[in-house]
Amino acid sequence: MTKKLAIIGGTGLTQMPQLKKLTKHQINTPFGDAVLNTGLIDNNEVVFLARHGHPHKLAPHKVNYRANIWALKQLAVTDIIAVNAVGGITDKMQAGVICVPNQIIDYSYGREHTFFDGTDEKFPLKHIDFTYPYTQSLREILLKDQNNLIDFAVYGATQGPRLESIAEINKLEKDGCDIVGMTGMPEASLAREVDLNYACLALVVNPAAGKSDELITMDQIYQVLNDGIEQVCAIIVDASNKFYSN
Ligand code: HPA
Repeated sequence: MTKKLAIIGGTGLTQMPQLKKLTKHQINTPFGDAVLNTGLIDNNEVVFLARHGHPHKLAPHKVNYRANIWALKQLAVTDIIAVNAVGGITDKMQAGVICVPNQIIDYSYGREHTFFDGTDEKFPLKHIDFTYPYTQSLREILLKDQNNLIDFAVYGATQGPRLESIAEINKLEKDGCDIVGMTGMPEASLAREVDLNYACLALVVNPAAGKSDELITMDQIYQVLNDGIEQVCAIIVDASNKFYSN
């Protein structure tokens, strides 16, 4: 089967300078429209979708995750690398760290989170396996020869757009979460519903609530994002080369 890679860019990554010869597409899906770009990274075709729009305007709970994933499927994408800015909860997850999560807990609510709710005969009820929410082969491509990456993390997906209270972060930590973000779900499970491989590259942009003596400011978050996004892009370029040479 022909492989095709897509990147879903999150906060701080609404476009990628390494992606050349861009063509913009508006794709109609049964779930609404999605806007994305196709282009080339080192002569390999890559699809790029800015999750929050470009410029960034959609709140995490307003993103049309279903249209986005369906549109990627329509374009014959087989694998998705999703980039997410997150807060760090456990000790290793300091600001600036980049990790490749291996598990996820969904605390989000009220989002259109499935293609298969049984209300439309074109999309009959289906229960997907989600034991391993991220595709191991794609995680391995991201991690190979990247010694600075942390190779695990439980991602706690919160509703946002507000950040959390200290008590909420303490609860997430007790549940086993290492990082917290607002956009990890339902993206990961929707990808699984339509058999797309999916892995996440998470950049820690702040200590989660109560994990430092300071309050969390957007200035601090954007500072860390600016510093880290270049490394994120370099990892993506490297991963796309490995993906297409495999
Ligand atoms: N909490 C939730 N989402 C986030 C955070 C956070 O601290 N930082 C970046 N995205």
